[in-house]
Amino acid sequence: MKKKAVILFGSPHTNGATNEITVWAKEHLEKLGYTSESIHLYGKKIQPCMGCGVCQKTEETLGCMQKDDVAEIANKVLEADLILIATPIYSSFCTAPTKALLDRLVYMMNKYLGRMPEDWHSLWESKHLAMLISYAVKYDEILEPLDMGMKIYCKHSKLFYDGYLAIHRKNFMLRKASGNSEEFGDKARVEDFIDHIIQSCETKKVATWSAVTGK
Ligand SMILES: Cc1cc2nc3c(=O)[nH]c(=O)nc-3n(C[C@H](O)[C@H](O)[C@H](O)COP(=O)(O)O)c2cc1C
Repeated sequence: MKKKAVILFGSPHTNGATNEITVWAKEHLEKLGYTSESIHLYGKKIQPCMGCGVCQKTEETLGCMQKDDVAEIANKVLEADLILIATPIYSSFCTAPTKALLDRLVYMMNKYLGRMPEDWHSLWESKHLAMLISYAVKYDEILEPLDMGMKIYCKHSKLFYDGYLAIHRKNFMLRKASGNSEEFGDKARVEDFIDHIIQSCETKKVATWSAVTGK
């Protein structure tokens, strides 16, 4: 059976910089024999986690009380072998719908309450997670908050963290002057990154990748 990737697409722009690299990633995943589905998070109803704790009372099901699109997304995540988060950097982290989804998933998927860390039960244990990122501000440490946050998030969730590829693009208001990112070799970088993730998925030997263009 073909392996599955789910792409959690967290940019508001379906024709922007994040989309450009996501399309290349999707094409390459399919070339490597994966099926992939991209979910446009800005087009979904994703309410913030209310921290009510109801999901912690069920062991094998998601158990969230909120009626929005998150259960549907969570079920697609559960069917996937690889979770690819595609997001622009907003205020040093991912975008708001992406963060809201991460908050909802972390409790629905992980049953923590009243347990010691070694007994945490994860419904999505051993899936792989990686990120495709677009950003504009050339600070050396620009990717650190999101990378560190997701490293801890994956450890907490018993997911394999395969790292990120961050592509620099001029701010969207200046973009017309910045040229096509394929000209800068970004398509080849995206394909190398996907090759790395797939190798990690196949061998279960995780070597976290971090690459930032334009620093
Ligand atoms: C509200 C907002 C906050 C942003 N914050 C950052 C930031 O903290 N660091 C950064 O490098 N870029 C920041 N950016 C720029 C975007 O990450 C960048 O333009 C990205 O390429 C946009 O991707 P898109 O075309 O998919 O929207 C911000 C953009 C917006 C609109």
